Amino acid sequence: MKRKRRKIKKIFLVFLMYFFIICVAFCILKFVKIENKEIPKITYPKIIATTKGESINLLEKVSVQNKDISEINIEVEGNYDFNKEGEYTLYYVVKDNLGNEIKEPFTLKVERTLEEDENHFTTSKGFKGEIIDGVTYIDGTLIVNKTYSLPSTFGNGLTEETKNAFAQLKAAALLEGLDIYIASGFRSYERQVTLYNNYVKRDGKEAADTYSARPGHSEHQSGLTFDVNEVSDRFHGTKEANWLSDNCYKFGFILRFPNGKSDETGFKYESWHFRYVGEDLAKKLYNNGNWITLEEYFGIPSVYEN
Ligand code: DAL
Ligand code: ZN
Repeated sequence: MKRKRRKIKKIFLVFLMYFFIICVAFCILKFVKIENKEIPKITYPKIIATTKGESINLLEKVSVQNKDISEINIEVEGNYDFNKEGEYTLYYVVKDNLGNEIKEPFTLKVERTLEEDENHFTTSKGFKGEIIDGVTYIDGTLIVNKTYSLPSTFGNGLTEETKNAFAQLKAAALLEGLDIYIASGFRSYERQVTLYNNYVKRDGKEAADTYSARPGHSEHQSGLTFDVNEVSDRFHGTKEANWLSDNCYKFGFILRFPNGKSDETGFKYESWHFRYVGEDLAKKLYNNGNWITLEEYFGIPSVYEN
């Protein structure tokens, strides 16, 4: 009987010991867990401002305090564009090596540059645009397309630079036995009104807009542009068209509406339409025969407002 009671007592003590060990282990685990839950504290500016085109380090003024966690990773979450004016809501995401994560919102303000006003802007590729007397220049190059127009009074013939460059191009082509001549050079606003309206009457507005510029939107009014030889799709593939496409850049001209680029230029391929931009830019846009459009190069649109 006595032995039996002693045995029960022993079992009870063993049980008590196990219970005690479990309790201690539980407390330790709980304590560790609490320690693990020690989330990092982040100090950061709620609003960060920069000017358009100026990239900044968004993590520069962010600091994280944490007692005992060694590895901390901070990232910025959200979309933003240093070249696009606007207010962006972004997040700092802080993660530590124990799986703790915090996410704090902040605002990035991309503001217009000091010199920007309604006559100054920066393109999506960071080029400076300036509007002088209603004429748009980007990085010094006059731009006319579906987005940028010319005042109705602008222009009075091909510019001297354009005429001189064309004379050199013509002479070089002649040495190759090719006759290049201007079929349509400068066109006034009024002339474009007549042309465009006729095309709209003939093909409808939607179709006309793919190949004829609305008045004020034609490069022919700039005095920097001309059509050569046969103004039709039949010109493509001729010796003259091929020579021009390969050599016009040497004289400062570009093939303004290259094949397959109508989404950028807004107009169908025109193998006969050349634009003077100067030799440096022409060479860049020639791009070893893989023409880059003015729109792509400067990062600008070519779409009508309505
Ligand atoms: N054909 C070109 C786009 C113009 O009308 O100026
Ligand atoms: Zn043309």
